[in-house]
Parts: sequence; structure tokens; C-alpha cells
Amino acid sequence: MSTSDTIEPNRRDFLYIATGMAGVVGAGAVAWPFIDQMRPDASTLAVSSIEVDVAAVEPGMSIVVKWRGKPVFIRNRTPEEVKAAQDTPLADLKDPVARNANLPSDAPATDSDRAAAKDKENWIVMVGVCTHLGCVPLGQQGDFGGWFCPCHGSHYDTAGRIRKGPAPENLAVPTLAFLSDTKIKIG
Ligand code: FES
Repeated sequence: MSTSDTIEPNRRDFLYIATGMAGVVGAGAVAWPFIDQMRPDASTLAVSSIEVDVAAVEPGMSIVVKWRGKPVFIRNRTPEEVKAAQDTPLADLKDPVARNANLPSDAPATDSDRAAAKDKENWIVMVGVCTHLGCVPLGQQGDFGGWFCPCHGSHYDTAGRIRKGPAPENLAVPTLAFLSDTKIKIG
């Protein structure tokens, strides 16, 4: 089974496959809008990075893009979701490390060190691969309102930090940068 076959976004997700593949949507899904401006050009594909326009992603919504063969979650978190993550004591975290490729390897897993940018803390971008055995977690689900991996029951919070279940690490934050207020470069 390919990675794309395992993507099962919930109703609040858009699904977009950056390589141009289409139709990878599970049974029962609503009609997914195709966000054409997110299509990467040839040069970005060649260097294994993608540029994603997130202007259409409202607070509370998320999209899934494909990058280097893996799903990447991009979520525009609500103020409540950000606050829930900010208010979580680090002592409550199973994995206290940020796992953010843009920061030192020992950066703590605070919400600001997990978010896509300090001044855009509503945005979170993560590789959508469960750190247990590699399933693709489902968004806006689980005991902490973040992501839930149904394979063996791992619950991630709204900052993508593992809170319950067998997964050992927080979801990985890839190398990324905001090119503008609504355009994110991943990779
Ligand atoms: S692969 Fe996600 S809980 Fe096992």
C-alpha cells in the first residue's frame, strides 16, 4: 500500500497531493475542493521543496499536501486550539523535545517552538506520519483535539505532541519558511 493510499482525511480536511496525483480520497468523503494555486512549479519539484498557498485555509481547517512522498499536515489553528497547547505544562508531555527541523535538536516542545512561525502561531506544519509505526493520523480527533492515529491509539494534541498511546515522539516539523503571509515553503 502506498503512503497516499493511507490518507484518510476527516470532513474538515482538504486533501491536496502536490505531485499532481488526484482522487486519493476515501469513501464517504465530501467533495474536496482542489486548490489550484497550490500546485508547485517544476523548479520547486526539482529541489524537493514545495510552495503551498494557504490563503483558503480558514481557522479550524487543515489541508494535507504531499512532500517527498509523505503527507504533510498544515493546520490553521483556532485561538482556542493554540491556547490549549500553550497552557499545557511541559511536564505533562511524553516527548519534551520540539522535533522541529528549524530549531536546535534540544529545543523544548513549547507551543511556540512547534508552531510554523513565532508571529504566526496559529499555523502548524508537520509530517503526517505517526512516530509509532508510520500510519497517517487523523486530524481534529483524539482526546486532545489534535490528531489521532487509529492504528494503535496514539493521541496527539493541537501542537502535534504525543500525549497518549504508544507513539514515542511528537510529529516532526519539517524545514519550512513563510514566503509571504499566505505562502509556505516546505523543504
Ligand atoms: S502507527 Fe500510530 S499508533 Fe501505531
